[in-house]
Amino acid sequence: MKAVVFHGVGDIRLDEVPDPQVQEPTDAVVRLTASAICGTDLHFVRGTMAGVKPGTILGHEAVGVVEEVGDEVRNLVPGQRVVIPSTLGCGFCSYCRAGYFAQCDTLVPGGTAFYGGPEAAGAIDGLQAEKARVPYAHVNLVALPDEVNDDQALLISDIYPTAYFGAKLAEIGDGDVVAVFGCGPVGIFAILSAFQEGATRVLAVDRHPDRLEMARRQGAEVIDFSREDPIDAISTLTGGIGPDRVIDAVGVDAERPHEGPAAGRSETPAEQFDAEQQQVAPEQNPQGDSWHPGDAPSMALRWAVRSVAKAGTIAIIGVYPPEHEFFPIGEAMQKNLTVKMGNCNHRRYIPELIGMVRSGKVDPSRVLTQVEAVTSAIDAYEAFDQRQPGWMKVELEPTA
Ligand SMILES: NC(=O)c1ccc[n+]([C@@H]2O[C@H](COP(=O)([O-])OP(=O)(O)OC[C@H]3O[C@@H](n4cnc5c(N)ncnc54)[C@H](O)[C@@H]3O)[C@@H](O)[C@H]2O)c1
Ligand SMILES: [Zn+2]
Ligand SMILES: [Zn+2]
Repeated sequence: MKAVVFHGVGDIRLDEVPDPQVQEPTDAVVRLTASAICGTDLHFVRGTMAGVKPGTILGHEAVGVVEEVGDEVRNLVPGQRVVIPSTLGCGFCSYCRAGYFAQCDTLVPGGTAFYGGPEAAGAIDGLQAEKARVPYAHVNLVALPDEVNDDQALLISDIYPTAYFGAKLAEIGDGDVVAVFGCGPVGIFAILSAFQEGATRVLAVDRHPDRLEMARRQGAEVIDFSREDPIDAISTLTGGIGPDRVIDAVGVDAERPHEGPAAGRSETPAEQFDAEQQQVAPEQNPQGDSWHPGDAPSMALRWAVRSVAKAGTIAIIGVYPPEHEFFPIGEAMQKNLTVKMGNCNHRRYIPELIGMVRSGKVDPSRVLTQVEAVTSAIDAYEAFDQRQPGWMKVELEPTA
């Protein structure tokens, strides 16, 4: 079958690989009908999330049809449509039972089990392929009702549950003013989720006009950090008080402003950001306009702490690798902040989100802007990496 394979930092290829097989009685094999590219994949190719083993199939968002199940998978049969949660659990350890699927003790006791990720996440082959092997399939596949189509379900695989989890972590309640940093696909769903949780106002920060426009269409009040200082703008728009809750939907590839009043005005010196970048991405392989790591790994975190109201809450759902040690703890402490973070426990939220889509309350597929054949996957990765205008969320058609 064809699959997107990681060969090294800055080196991904469309390869011909063997079809996956049922290896354990708890496995299933799924024929994928839709897959996607995510901001998380970019961290791997840019080198800001190190440790992906060459040969690993990338991708962790997909929908498909069950092809074969092992003896111990009793809730699914071949032919059923399913969505695949990005993180994996076993369904029986104490963490899974408590809903912390991303901290499952069985699959990767020291971390989060995740498709198409680093060795520390289990080196599990990913979903940008024609088929995939799903361990502990009884819990790591969720059956789809006919009313939820593939495009909608694809966004329930990772980014909608992640954003929903972020809104829960941020402790958003009725009437809250929320700021969301980053208007990529995850940020867009964070805006939607903040409103769902009761926010009255959501301020959204990014620098790409097309992404800010999509945020505005979700109802957010938008701030372009290449045209105004986001700290000043947030302060002005909130009467000097700041938002009650902040969601970081940027992560380690954060950028500093290069134009506008905020450029060079950050209290963080350029040398500090350069040193941060060296520490999080010791190996880099940029080529032309592609695969450049973000040049200010702690920028979104620093803005979050600086802008939030005293005694407010920050939720960090943008991904940071273990090497990232740059958080303004003193400033946060002096403001009595609550800070929560983590990898989404997808399996915990997916059934609820399927219900919301099925009832017609939400149509997540509006965020999909591109559908590409898997054979064009590498070009699609480059366009998404460069944030070319209009390239918000890319679906890959595995068998096209
Ligand atoms: N916690 C989880 O379980 C989980 C799950 C999925 C994705 N993620 C993470 O969420 C993050 C966003 O994912 P995505 O697919 O939307 O990625 P993306 O790369 O498409 O979007 C990131 C956005 O942040 C913007 N940005 C850069 N620097 C900024 C700054 N200083 N201030 C404000 N905005 C800034 C960029 O312009 C871009 O639009 C990634 O880090 C991804 O790994 C986490
Ligand atoms: Zn993802
Ligand atoms: Zn478990």
